[in-house]
Amino acid sequence: MKAFIFDLDGVIVFTDKFHYQAWKKMADELGIYFDETINNRLRGVSRAESLEIILEKYEGEPLSGEIKAQMMEQKNRTYRELLATMTPDDVTEEVRETLKRLRERGHKLAIGSSSKNAGFILDKVGLTDAFDAVSDGNNITRSKPDPEVFVKAGEFLGVNPKECIVVEDAYAGIDAAKAAGMASVGIGDASGYEKADYRIETFGELLDIG
Ligand code: BG6
Ligand code: MG
Repeated sequence: MKAFIFDLDGVIVFTDKFHYQAWKKMADELGIYFDETINNRLRGVSRAESLEIILEKYEGEPLSGEIKAQMMEQKNRTYRELLATMTPDDVTEEVRETLKRLRERGHKLAIGSSSKNAGFILDKVGLTDAFDAVSDGNNITRSKPDPEVFVKAGEFLGVNPKECIVVEDAYAGIDAAKAAGMASVGIGDASGYEKADYRIETFGELLDIG
């Protein structure tokens, strides 16, 4: 494989808890029921689609597009305050070392994330220079399981989809990789997903795949 394309949240860093806290604050203020099980459904899903999932429990008057935009803004403000507390210690030595070794072997590395905060997160944890390209929520119009984010990552790297392998923790991300014509590795939540070409428990196992 010429290139590895990594999802960010749940693969390189663990920001699920911050998404949860930020959405929970918004939901509590509006009296909307929200729990960890609902939060798990937001994995790999865009901010706007996440809000729609949360609003399945909303029983009030219909909300205008403007109000929904304000809700997303509020959630993102809280989320970014939490992200701002991240430091390089939030990336394990195993992740850092594996990325370095893959690069030394000549693989190109990219991020393929639905998040519009990917650049901010990479900066906070000191990984901006670890990747050759970043494809994220800012350069796509459709989120996973649509393949767009990975297709763009391949294009940014100048590598054919057949020579890209995607590393993902979300089922929607594995489906997106397949739709892009790329191989996939399931880790974390997706380590048991039968549609993944490879399934791993630890990040370092990527060195046995490349
Ligand atoms: C994905 C997360 O990486 O990014 C989703 O798994 C999140 O839970 C999505 O909704 C969008 O993130 P952001 O940072 O643009 O709100
Ligand atoms: Mg993820």
